[in-house]
Amino acid sequence: MKNNRYTLITGASSGLGKEFALQCAARGMNLILIALPGSNAASVANNLIFEYGIDVRVFEFDMTDSLMLLSKLHYIRANFEVDFLINNAGIGGTAAITESSLEAIDRILQLNIRSMVLITQTLLPLLLKQEKSYILNISSMAAFTPIAYKTVYPASKAFISSFSLGLREELHDTPLSVSVVYPGPMMTNAGISTRIIGQGRKGRMGLLPTSEIVRVALKQCLAGKALIIPGLWNQVNHRLMGIIPLGIKLRIISKAVKKEIAVK
Ligand SMILES: NC(=O)c1ccc[n+]([C@@H]2O[C@H](COP(=O)([O-])OP(=O)(O)OC[C@H]3O[C@@H](n4cnc5c(N)ncnc54)[C@H](OP(=O)(O)O)[C@@H]3O)[C@@H](O)[C@H]2O)c1
Repeated sequence: MKNNRYTLITGASSGLGKEFALQCAARGMNLILIALPGSNAASVANNLIFEYGIDVRVFEFDMTDSLMLLSKLHYIRANFEVDFLINNAGIGGTAAITESSLEAIDRILQLNIRSMVLITQTLLPLLLKQEKSYILNISSMAAFTPIAYKTVYPASKAFISSFSLGLREELHDTPLSVSVVYPGPMMTNAGISTRIIGQGRKGRMGLLPTSEIVRVALKQCLAGKALIIPGLWNQVNHRLMGIIPLGIKLRIISKAVKKEIAVK
């Protein structure tokens, strides 16, 4: 172990979070990984300790349990020096709002919004006392347009975007730099991969491997960039979406999503 600083990554057992763990480990960062109970976070940790000689601590619990989350955060705050926080854990879903259960909606709000704010606010004193520190929040290209039949997810990602940029401005005189990344589609798990493949050529637009998204996100976050949009297609798409009137883009995207539910 080369230093006593840690990078905390939420949702680190699979998908984008696991890739963040791999690339941060390769940069020699010690890690605190948070994942659900029964995840393979411990085996990810063992591999990284062996391969990179870093220290990795694993905390497995459900982050939507706010009391549990706060108790773990207080333990972390008292026992570790965290200088990099990556708020990655997030879930979504596609369904008509009338077909969604209140539990499913609440879980998205709890994980994507409430837990992200709780973690950030609780760890701020720790991050602010470091010589240099970083927060990287994971939003989505979906944050840029409201989408019917998804409603809650893009709204939660727009919250993350707004929260991150506001926080960045509030802390601009401090050693803590806040960035937000807007990934496009990624084949991170079976459900998402099936959806992307089902969309055919359209689904492949803006598609990037997680390794590339994480490479760009880490590089630009550590360079202090505020907004990070990995991939040329996604940058062009973002520009285009900025020109197209809201009503039109809302209709086009929502129509495509509605078709997806119809073939489910
Ligand atoms: N995939 C995409 O196309 C896409 C596009 C744009 C943005 N994003 C965003 O990128 C981030 C990562 O997405 P992903 O596709 O990599 O997701 P993923 O493959 O589903 O992985 C999610 C991670 O979060 C953990 N997690 C889920 N619920 C949790 C909870 N209640 N408490 C603690 N940990 C929990 C999971 O643990 P387990 O492995 O134990 O379940 C897993 O490690 C999310 O914020 C997502 O919204 C994804």
